[in-house]
Amino acid sequence: MQIAILGGSGFVGQHLLPILHSQGHGLRVLSRRPERHRELKLLPGLELWPVDVHDEAALTDSLCDCQVAINLVGILNESGHAGRGFRRVHVDLPAKLARACLGAQVGRVLHLSAAGADARQGASLYLRTKGEGEQQLRVNGADRLAITIFRPSVIFGPGDQFLNRLARLLHWAPGIFPLPCAQARMQPVFVGDVGLALAAALTQPETIGQRYCLGGPRIYTLLELARLTAEVAGIKRLVLPAPDPLARLQAAIMEYFPGKPFSRDNYRSAQVANVCETNALETVFGLAPRSVEAQLPLYIGHPKSWAERRRLT
Ligand SMILES: NC(=O)c1ccc[n+]([C@@H]2O[C@H](COP(=O)([O-])OP(=O)(O)OC[C@H]3O[C@@H](n4cnc5c(N)ncnc54)[C@H](OP(=O)(O)O)[C@@H]3O)[C@@H](O)[C@H]2O)c1
Repeated sequence: MQIAILGGSGFVGQHLLPILHSQGHGLRVLSRRPERHRELKLLPGLELWPVDVHDEAALTDSLCDCQVAINLVGILNESGHAGRGFRRVHVDLPAKLARACLGAQVGRVLHLSAAGADARQGASLYLRTKGEGEQQLRVNGADRLAITIFRPSVIFGPGDQFLNRLARLLHWAPGIFPLPCAQARMQPVFVGDVGLALAAALTQPETIGQRYCLGGPRIYTLLELARLTAEVAGIKRLVLPAPDPLARLQAAIMEYFPGKPFSRDNYRSAQVANVCETNALETVFGLAPRSVEAQLPLYIGHPKSWAERRRLT
């Protein structure tokens, strides 16, 4: 199959592409800035196309000769006017993608949403717009697209922006680390398992029209994950739950830091459990989810090794 992957240059894409490639699929990554992702072309035959995915006509053209579109575009934070960025990426883009697929005669769509997405009652703009995006994909697909939606909990693995970022924050913190939203519950899922589930869905027609939650083997609090990360990375910090008023203040301040390590919208997302009622990795795809304990030591490293790694790459 020829597959177009929107957002394929990102964290999940970089793990999904080799899986799809090994299964013999033709791959076309649509990227706003392909020059930044030339390493993807190490996969023989991979096409890296410069496309502004928000331009519906360009998107439709870029899907020519493809049988499948996979949407991996998402943002955790937005810049500028509250809501506009989330809406453009999470709501408008899935609507455009559905119409573009119909226009280009692409019949199959896989879409990455998020655990807890809820168009009406989502705790945060992130979760509400993710929920709306699922609806838009369906409404604009007009029953003519074979859609499968995935709702992963937080995704971890080499290159993640979750445990790697947590490790960096722990490293910078002096002695004591007051952790915001320490009791937030989540079920981290390994990025390689997300990739395997997406690839499997392409060969399982019964997944069409379904929505699946993807999670890891167990549920953690953020506090447990922070302490585990500190231990594995060899960072000696006393990690303590920040009282709620301090957590809100941290969110309000840190959303102005470069890269927005934490924001008020993230704070609101953390108020709902980011977990799966039924974990489709096991029940639908027959996979044994890989654990944080097994994978984290393979990629997090000690802070001293980070500079070394940066020097080598
Ligand atoms: N990572 C997680 O923990 C997690 C958890 C739950 C759900 N998800 C969802 O899973 C999907 C993949 O996640 P990911 O971590 O792989 O994402 P990512 O690496 O942050 O981003 C994927 C790609 O999206 C494109 N992109 C980013 N902002 C964009 C914008 N404003 N307009 C158009 N394209 C944009 C970029 O591609 P180019 O620059 O090449 O165009 C980027 O490489 C997303 O929908 C995300 O919301 C992720």
